[in-house]
Amino acid sequence: MMTSNTLTVTDNRTNRTYTVPITDGTVRAMDFRQMRTGEEDFGLILYDPAFTNTASCRSSITYLDGERGILEYRGYPIEDLAERCTFLEVAYLLLFGELPNKAELDAWVFEITHHTMLHETTRKFMEGFRYDAHPMSMLMSSVAALSTVYPDAKEVHNPASRMLQTKRLIGKMPTIAAMSYRHNVGFPYVYPDNDLNYTENFMNMLWRMVEPKYAANPVLARALDILFILHADHEQNCSTNTMRSVGSSLADPYLAVASAAAALSGPLHGGANEEVLKMLDEIGTKENVPAYIQRVKDGHIKLMGFGHRVYKNYDPRAKIIKRTADQVFQVTGRNPKLDIALELERIALQDPYFVSRKLYPNVDFYSGIIYQAVGFKPDMFTVLFAIPRTVGWLAQWQEMLIDSEQKIARPRQIYTGQRNRKFVPVAERGAVAV
Ligand code: ACO
Repeated sequence: MMTSNTLTVTDNRTNRTYTVPITDGTVRAMDFRQMRTGEEDFGLILYDPAFTNTASCRSSITYLDGERGILEYRGYPIEDLAERCTFLEVAYLLLFGELPNKAELDAWVFEITHHTMLHETTRKFMEGFRYDAHPMSMLMSSVAALSTVYPDAKEVHNPASRMLQTKRLIGKMPTIAAMSYRHNVGFPYVYPDNDLNYTENFMNMLWRMVEPKYAANPVLARALDILFILHADHEQNCSTNTMRSVGSSLADPYLAVASAAAALSGPLHGGANEEVLKMLDEIGTKENVPAYIQRVKDGHIKLMGFGHRVYKNYDPRAKIIKRTADQVFQVTGRNPKLDIALELERIALQDPYFVSRKLYPNVDFYSGIIYQAVGFKPDMFTVLFAIPRTVGWLAQWQEMLIDSEQKIARPRQIYTGQRNRKFVPVAERGAVAV
């Protein structure tokens, strides 16, 4: 008997009708393969460049409702987690599915804290970068290089090995990030300090100079922790899709995280926060905002930090970041760029161009302004995104590996090139216009 949870399709080429199940609001692409014109026909394939309407997995990690502006990790609203948790607590939640009790949290923090050191050869490897290397490029390459230090990471089907690499990666990302920064500005590297919490220790490795003990400003350390929570996961975004795709070949997690970080570095993804600051610099003053908006509307440039593939309502993370900015500015003084950003947002949110396209500020619009006030250079902004997102990448990688439906990721294509061409020896070939 046909239930209502089905889709009936008539293939007008053959007049045949097919009924396929609908599960969780989704039809299976492979159910369309049976729709063929004859023996020779391969069957129908779904075409979806940029995956705008294709689910690639089942996931119980992050829930996102872009129409309503809702974001939850393992069912907990992002607002509650940002207000009441530490980043490492949220990391535990994302990886294990439950918030830790006190003993579990203490053990978890201890473990991560004791994986913050780098092997000396990794430190020396980092010394080899050019003096002005971009910190994000150094981060990616150094994470990939960890693959040479931990050959045991190849055992991706071994849960104990996976957990060990996960702890190593979460522990070492801030160390590599901080060393990338110190290298870039020509300061000696600072080793981790196990007395400090995750973000305080990161700040120590970034900014300690000659003082024997680094004391982080607690307001700034907490703001950074909140920003880390907000960036920890965001379901199947470009870099997470890369993590899953590279991981699906059973490459080790250091290589998969390096690949995911490479995807994150692009200006349309995590690189947008750096671009926002460049944009605010270019605009210069509030008065120049309308002219800039006009250039965006004329299609010459994009308003960086605006728009999102899935949020068609205000990005809930941007709201929390705006609040956090107020706390940071009480310590650092107001970043004058905020006025330009607020004016950009005010004008854009009234303008039919942005309203009709549902373009709202995303997570990157305000994060850079905070990062700059805290003391980060813009070329560190995407690195600051990569540190917490490593947790999301690893949680998704783990979920992918234990999902019996997953296989090596390998999309189809529609071939548009020529076929069966006659080979011409080099001496007989004419000039080709390129
Ligand atoms: N400024 C101006 N116009 C924009 C912007 C923007 N920031 N974003 C989208 N649009 C326009 C597009 O030109 C398009 O207009 P059209 O229908 O007239 O052609 C329409 O809005 C729809 O945009 P798409 O490009 O189809 O949206 P898509 O989902 O592919 O892109 C993206 C999403 C890449 C985030 C885009 O909005 C963008 O480039 N934003 C700026 C970069 C940015 O801030 N990236 C960070 C995203 S958050 C993150 O990764 C952490």
